[in-house]
Amino acid sequence: MCRKKITVVGAGHVGESVARALAEKDFADIVMVDIPQTEGMPAGKALDILQTGPIHYYDSLVTGTTSYETTADSDIVVITAGVPRKPGMSRDDLLNTNTAIVRSVTEQVAKYSPNSILIVVSNPLDAMCLVALQTSKFPKHRVIGMAGILDSARMRTFIAQELKVSVENVHAMVLGGHGDTMVPLPRFSTVAGIPVTEFLPKERVDAIMQRTRDGGAEIVKLLKTGSAYYAPAAAAVEMVESIVLDKKKILPCAAYLDGEYGINGIYVGVPVKLGEKGLEEIIQLKLSNEEMASLQKSAAAVKELCGAIK
Ligand code: NAI
Ligand code: 2OP
Repeated sequence: MCRKKITVVGAGHVGESVARALAEKDFADIVMVDIPQTEGMPAGKALDILQTGPIHYYDSLVTGTTSYETTADSDIVVITAGVPRKPGMSRDDLLNTNTAIVRSVTEQVAKYSPNSILIVVSNPLDAMCLVALQTSKFPKHRVIGMAGILDSARMRTFIAQELKVSVENVHAMVLGGHGDTMVPLPRFSTVAGIPVTEFLPKERVDAIMQRTRDGGAEIVKLLKTGSAYYAPAAAAVEMVESIVLDKKKILPCAAYLDGEYGINGIYVGVPVKLGEKGLEEIIQLKLSNEEMASLQKSAAAVKELCGAIK
């Protein structure tokens, strides 16, 4: 199999963690790119990850640069460029700063890697996906956002801890926008295939749903200087892996909706199938009235935020 080329834009906390986790997968060569002001930083981090190869047994080539020429003809580009939030800030507070960053990054990516698949991580996630789609003019199946896997992983962690079972037994489904209105779905969250609602009383399920919604803020409050990066990076890498290996995993991701779930013209988290073409299918769950109302409320919040994009 021919090695893929993957670019990670932004060599900060999330970007370097994505690059490192991807290198360990050993299925692609990786380029990390950051702004010129960072000078040798991306190259230094890349060299460090490269020199981990002999110890962890991988041959992935890892390069760091501030020039997009080095990123040319990438198969996949993971966009992590942007500022993270600080305590007291919502993801939405990042809108104006990160719109400008994601727009300028996407222009370069579209110029140098016109056939790539974009995985957007920068916040506010659903709005930044729309910025990347509109700027790149790529088809919608090649611009996908990472959030649902992270939010679901948080919910899986909390369920496993509550029930004292292996996380491997726990699946969870969190849909909607990546913000306070996200929609954890206990009916579609299972322990060894059995809905979690069969194991826990409503008040415990509700508490887990709320902790999931607050999952990002809980970490921001502890870190004080930025936001989570290990689990976000792992989530982005799961998306990349499903695409590179054409695994066709069904994962909750931010997808551009064109009428699915009655939602139009915005990105919202829904279950999708990821394979070599990118987003290959949107899975339409049969939601209850209450679940659908929560998803619509979340979509309305995303739409309002997108309306504020300058
Ligand atoms: P960070 O501050 O550690 O790193 C950001 C990097 O982006 C910096 O190295 C910075 O120099 C770079 N950058 C800024 N402008 C750039 C440009 N025009 N071109 C290339 N690089 C540029 O931040 P961190 O923690 O890595 O987070 C990055 C973004 O990801 C934030 O917006 C954060 O909110 C978001 N995020 C989203 C998650 C999600 O679930 N979708 C989860 C975690 C973080
Ligand atoms: C998170 O949920 C910051 O969006 C990021 O941790």
